[in-house]
Amino acid sequence: THLINIAIDGPAGAGKSTVARMVATALQYIYVDTGAMYRAVTLKAIEMDLPLEDNDKVGQLAKQLDIVLLPGAKSQRVIVNGEDVSSLLRSLEINRNVSYVARLESVRQRMADLQRSMALEKGVVMDGRDIGTHVLPNAELKIFLTATPRERANRRFMELGPDAGITLDQLEKEIAERDRLDQEREIAPLLQAPDAHLVDSTGRTVDEVVGEIVQWGLAAA
Ligand code: C5P
Repeated sequence: THLINIAIDGPAGAGKSTVARMVATALQYIYVDTGAMYRAVTLKAIEMDLPLEDNDKVGQLAKQLDIVLLPGAKSQRVIVNGEDVSSLLRSLEINRNVSYVARLESVRQRMADLQRSMALEKGVVMDGRDIGTHVLPNAELKIFLTATPRERANRRFMELGPDAGITLDQLEKEIAERDRLDQEREIAPLLQAPDAHLVDSTGRTVDEVVGEIVQWGLAAA
């Protein structure tokens, strides 16, 4: 057997990061959470008060950011220019703004370069929106992971906790809006690659879904 790359794409809240991390652990592969990278750029752009729709300004910033992903106990640690920003990336403010930053060509170009360099030696499980279609079109295994909008909203709601200051209905609307922006953008939109396995995680346990993907991974390696 040899090392392969595994791309896991899908809409918000489908369980990509949980599944991708567990698949990586099972295969002793490296997990790369590309959403966290777009979130990190968004965080820094907001901190610097940049206009989030400005391709040049935000692209310039993205180029200056050294983004390092480290394995963490529960989720991935994200180090930006030496600062651990992991705990700042999942706020409602970042959720609401990240898709605008992720539309920018300059930002996508820079993130895709970084992501491809991380996958050069293979043995990577990468999750995102455009991994199977754009970043790693030659990935040996591609998964498009979905669940019903209600189930996805429910999962995020549990993650945020009851003190998040948002209702389940409102959260479902915000997730739908983020998916719409991600699907309708011009560059590398959220889309199932023609050669991706469609996996619907609605009503299935994480272990079941992970087991299925690991089996495919072993078969492809
Ligand atoms: O996966 P996560 O929900 O953390 O992704 C946050 C946002 O980052 C997505 O809604 C999308 O706008 C952007 N993203 C992207 N391409 C990727 C990963 C994430 O555009 N490969």
